[in-house]
Amino acid sequence: MQTKTPMKPIQMVDLVSQYHAIKGEVDAAVLRVMETAAFINGPEVKDLEKELSTYLGAKHAIGCANGTDALQIAMMALDLKPGDEVITASFTFVATVEVIGLLGLTPVFADVQPGTFNIDPVDIKRKITPRTKAIVPVHLFGQSADMEPIMAIAKEHGLSVIEDNCQAIGSDYTFSNGTTKKAGTIGHIGTTSFFPSKNLGCYGDGGAIFTNDDELAKRIRRVCNHGSDVRYYHEVVGVNSRLDSMQAAILRIKLRRLDAYAAARNRAASAYDAAFSSIPGLSIPERSKSSSHVFHQYTLRVAGGKRDALKEHLEKRGVPAMIYYPVPCHLQNAYKTARFAEGSLPVTESITHEVLSMPMSTELDEQQLAHITSSVRNFFNQ
Ligand SMILES: Cc1ncc(COP(=O)(O)O)c(C=O)c1O
Repeated sequence: MQTKTPMKPIQMVDLVSQYHAIKGEVDAAVLRVMETAAFINGPEVKDLEKELSTYLGAKHAIGCANGTDALQIAMMALDLKPGDEVITASFTFVATVEVIGLLGLTPVFADVQPGTFNIDPVDIKRKITPRTKAIVPVHLFGQSADMEPIMAIAKEHGLSVIEDNCQAIGSDYTFSNGTTKKAGTIGHIGTTSFFPSKNLGCYGDGGAIFTNDDELAKRIRRVCNHGSDVRYYHEVVGVNSRLDSMQAAILRIKLRRLDAYAAARNRAASAYDAAFSSIPGLSIPERSKSSSHVFHQYTLRVAGGKRDALKEHLEKRGVPAMIYYPVPCHLQNAYKTARFAEGSLPVTESITHEVLSMPMSTELDEQQLAHITSSVRNFFNQ
């Protein structure tokens, strides 16, 4: 008699199965680093930086300790000063806004587009004042914000652009003339996170900063290294933010697979789309006209106040689902201001009540996808 194979438990991100698929290479790379004892900024870091800059088509890629540091270092390298206004999205992970606050800069929030969840260039324009110095578009959930109009606004007003590309590494942005660039290489500086669950994740903390500008690259390296170009001589106030060599060695292995990983995520997203697109009251994630999607998250919008009940229904069936993000930054206790009171960012505020992200990883199999999709359809009596 044939027995049915039990389904692998479903997780939001299955990093163990992903590791098992590359275990031989990863284990050997980690041991290699241990044998050299070049633990910090060793040859693996230099090689990763070269490979990242080739992959992205950015002149410089500079490793650092995490994606939050990457944003902070970018702002320090641009010499932003207390009181300068930085326009960003409130519908993002808090790190983007946290570093603005840490440096004494003023976060100014622009609303997002309801379909793509990305910052709305029209609202960016409305938020510009004489104190505005920079724009930080966040490429949320795996697709690039609309960089062409954002760069045009920045040029018109003499602003710097830092792309928070922690969630969309590998996605391609296409300009109206047909040229394509990788997300994170279009603004003056791009940043990313190698947090384990990211599309290009390491086995600890890590991050990187990208730029095509030689002078900015110099300043970024200096800020990362205690404000120093020459050991024990310090030109500016800096930080200690380094990528370690074991993480770099692991990232080099995963970078070679990044496009295949994005394809696997897109296969899962297509299965979700096919199962969910005809369910009334459920909106599948909109594909941007100008960006490819690498599905860091597959995020549904659930109308009619049913989001939390759907989440609970799924959890009872062994399907984890997450709310990214339940409270936008402008309504967080740490960042509340009179200027951005409740009601000030209507799209952001409405989608925080509707969004629900489905399990998404490179290793979701047919059996798991069938269980997830039937569990969602079943909630809607489909
Ligand atoms: C949009 C965004 N910005 C910044 C970060 C911060 O990255 P890290 O956790 O590596 O500091 C993250 C991820 O956590 C993120 O998703």
